[in-house]
Amino acid sequence: MLLAEKNSLTEEIERLVEKYGSNRSSLLPVLQDIQRNHRYISEHAQQEIARVLDIHPVEVYSVISFYSFLNTKPKGRNIVRLCRTITCDLAGKDSIVKAVERELGIKFGETTKDKRITLEFANCLGMCDQGPAMLVNYKVYTKLTPEKAVEILNELK
Ligand code: FES
Repeated sequence: MLLAEKNSLTEEIERLVEKYGSNRSSLLPVLQDIQRNHRYISEHAQQEIARVLDIHPVEVYSVISFYSFLNTKPKGRNIVRLCRTITCDLAGKDSIVKAVERELGIKFGETTKDKRITLEFANCLGMCDQGPAMLVNYKVYTKLTPEKAVEILNELK
């Protein structure tokens, strides 16, 4: 295939494979880079990665589904993960869920139309003595109240 015929995604994948090597162990770093650059790994990207690494697309998909930080769908610019594990649950997680869903007009598992925020549940964030806890991108917030959670989300760009 001529270089001009390749789309930019294919070129990007080939560059990554050149950087990490063409064996199976390159799959995860390639996926991480594509995720970082595009915020998700499209079906087309999965097929191209499989083709360039000469592995089956199912293998690519199974690695993506194994790691929660890899996504096959476009997500928001900000990923909000609320802990749903028992201690945070008892500390009032449900009131946070209600307030946040009402404020954003979406349910957990969904993304706002403007792609500003994706809401997800997470398992224990290791802050059980300070629940309810929520991870916003890479920052953990603890001892949340519904008002505090809404305030934090409203500050996200
Ligand atoms: Fe929520 Fe551990 S149970 S942080």
